[in-house]
Amino acid sequence: MTGDFQENDPFPAAEFDSWAGEYDQDAAGETFPFTGYRDLLAEVVRQTGARPGLKVLDLGAGTGNLTQLLAAAGCEVWGTDFSSEMLARAREKLPGARLFLHDLRDPFPPELQQRFDCIVSAYVFHHFELPEKAALAERLVRESMAPGGCLVIGDISFLTAADRDTQRQTQGEYWDEEPYWIAEDALPALEARGLTVQYRQVSNCAGVYRIRLNEEADQ
Ligand SMILES: C[S@@+](CC[C@H](N)C(=O)[O-])C[C@H]1O[C@@H](n2cnc3c(N)ncnc32)[C@H](O)[C@@H]1O
Repeated sequence: MTGDFQENDPFPAAEFDSWAGEYDQDAAGETFPFTGYRDLLAEVVRQTGARPGLKVLDLGAGTGNLTQLLAAAGCEVWGTDFSSEMLARAREKLPGARLFLHDLRDPFPPELQQRFDCIVSAYVFHHFELPEKAALAERLVRESMAPGGCLVIGDISFLTAADRDTQRQTQGEYWDEEPYWIAEDALPALEARGLTVQYRQVSNCAGVYRIRLNEEADQ
């Protein structure tokens, strides 16, 4: 990991380490920011076309809830997270799974330098500002995706900035100020990088982006 963002990191791995023990309980509560959590994970799985043998990489796998759904559908699952405590919970649910301690902002370790049929991520990219989100999505699609594959990102997301502002007011003290996705801004930023994107709102604060290379989207 490079020193700069480690020192000034607004979302350090240590924060997720201390959250790991309560994470599943918080997510199952389905209150903001987890309103629609189960539906969101199910929609990500649906959009991958999960089936036996599909090779899927789950980025920021956390305690392994999405990874587990993909494994149950017969996918060959791989996962990463930069929190060792989160990964320890995922390993309990998925003994023998290929899970790697890795910061998404770093180059992949040798084991992950290969191509996947699908790459997924849930509730992770909202820690990054839009230019970082878009650059990372492009890198993943161009360098780590098998031909015809897709990147499916489920996350805290709003159709418009106005929808986000409404939720900010509604949630009051429960609101955290983080760079959540705004689809009306994200779609042009991703498309400008040669990506084709479909967006689906799943709850009042969560949505799914399905991202492919332009040249493959028409086929
Ligand atoms: C809100 S949890 C989501 C976990 C899981 N994907 C789920 O849907 O339940 C966010 C996860 O992303 C991981 N994460 C955050 N920033 C990361 C980064 N830069 N690199 C790798 N993992 C990261 C955290 O450690 C945490 O496990």
